[in-house]
Amino acid sequence: MTQHLAAPSTGTSTDAPGHRTGWWQDAVIYQVYPRSFADGNGDGMGDLAGVTARLPYLRDLGVDAVWLSPFYASPQADAGYDVADYRTIDPMFGSLPDADALLREAHALGLRVIVDLVPNHSSDRHEWFKRALAEGPGSALRDRYHFRPGKGTDGELPPNDWESIFGGPAWTRTTDPDGTPGDWYLHLFAPEQPDFNWEHPAVADEFRSILRFWLDMGVDGFRVDVAHGLVKADGLPDLGSHDQLKLLGNDVMPFFDQDGVHEVYRSWRTILDEYPAGPSSDGGRILVAEAWTPTVERTANYVRPDEMHQAFNFQYLSTAWDAAELRKVIDSSLAAMRPVGAPTTWVLSNHDVTRHATRFANPPGLGTQIRTPGDRDKGLRRARAATLLMLALPGSAYVYQGEELGLPDVTDLPDEARQDPSFFRAEGQDGFRDGCRVPIPWTREGSSYGFGDGGSWLPQPAGWGDLSVEAQTGVEGSTLELYRAAIAARRAHPGLGAGSDVEWESAPEGVLVLRRPGFVCTVNTTGAPVELAVPGTLLLASAPVAVEGGTVELPADTTVWWTV
Ligand code: NOJ
Repeated sequence: MTQHLAAPSTGTSTDAPGHRTGWWQDAVIYQVYPRSFADGNGDGMGDLAGVTARLPYLRDLGVDAVWLSPFYASPQADAGYDVADYRTIDPMFGSLPDADALLREAHALGLRVIVDLVPNHSSDRHEWFKRALAEGPGSALRDRYHFRPGKGTDGELPPNDWESIFGGPAWTRTTDPDGTPGDWYLHLFAPEQPDFNWEHPAVADEFRSILRFWLDMGVDGFRVDVAHGLVKADGLPDLGSHDQLKLLGNDVMPFFDQDGVHEVYRSWRTILDEYPAGPSSDGGRILVAEAWTPTVERTANYVRPDEMHQAFNFQYLSTAWDAAELRKVIDSSLAAMRPVGAPTTWVLSNHDVTRHATRFANPPGLGTQIRTPGDRDKGLRRARAATLLMLALPGSAYVYQGEELGLPDVTDLPDEARQDPSFFRAEGQDGFRDGCRVPIPWTREGSSYGFGDGGSWLPQPAGWGDLSVEAQTGVEGSTLELYRAAIAARRAHPGLGAGSDVEWESAPEGVLVLRRPGFVCTVNTTGAPVELAVPGTLLLASAPVAVEGGTVELPADTTVWWTV
């Protein structure tokens, strides 16, 4: 299939000389988590047919592109991030013709489609790994993963001290075909997710071929899972006393952010550049890094001109609702990306972290896995204000399904309903990612609030229908209408999203006044109203504001957009 995009979904950014241009520079990209978006066949699990049927909703929301989390053949040990076959669709999600139909329909609606690529590890049910185990210690296929003898007198200890991100050791011991304990294999995540050995040429060749398979299908890009993890330090050295599980603000780890990963992305970039951009001819197919690195400067390495196009800005996602902190991270993010000419990205929520309406409802400093609902009204007020700030910034913004409905995390899921492997590996102390994965409500009523006819794989809470698309559509002041208006305004005002600079004006403590071409954004992060001089004509506000004469009273936790 070739690309057939109906209309360019956004204007190409005009930008400082030397900067690259393309649809993705200032795109609003919507993350669909296929399990939880829409269930087309009534089995309680979202699927590709469900996504296709709801694409007009995304067109009307105004986003430029959709990123789909994995839908490949998988035993689902980590909700599809354990891939058994990279070229087929899991029957739970549909079939290759369903994927083709989704791509065609999205392109006909002017939406681009980015798929998830999982190159750091496969499933333990991947053909290579199954054979590597079955063939025993001499199998050449073992070289495509990290198999090592254990330490200790009988090899009973793991080969090094690395821990899995999901808790417990990063190594699992195998049993040889004759039933005796054998070598160990590395898995930075669950034991069902063995890490590939990227030093092996067959691994690199296979992924170049997988890229081409999906590019030939017509996808517009790839979100690259654990992009920072592919290459491990020579000799797999012990980590020593470091805090292993902290993903940001650490020294470079022997298993993360090794300089060798960049060679992989340079090779992928040449492949993407071979593919035509499609009839809209305003930029090509893209690579987006999920790279947790110690600093924004190291994140910028992933988006050098001959590597990827975008990288998620997790430093921004991890920032508290605090004016000074926000300003600092905005400035450092823009400064880090400027030298490499890549757009900064902004993201507040995804399928791995507590939804921002709940993060901001709780005191700062609790991290991104929170189990308490906090003050829900305050959380929603701040979430709406945070979204308007995000959408005012230059670069590309990511929206996670359901945040446009102001959904909170579901913090009271019963343990027996939970499916996140990290919850079990960390013995219930961590891994609360199911709370942001609860299927989203489309209608006020119905067994799963319009998600599908067959219930929902995670229980939806009472009252979910009041937050549904149906309940919010056309309702003035609803969160859904706020998102629609904000995204429409971003299109109508080319100054928003474009470029790579913001100008700060002086403001009272806890307040931000940010100027962009033809536009001012005022943000009050404090818990009390603040009076400001009116900077222009009111365009959009995250909460009702009173403008009187030359003064505006900015309510607590509110963002207002002004044209000037
Ligand atoms: C990052 C993904 O976003 C997450 O959901 C997954 O568990 C890990 N990578 C492992 O693939």
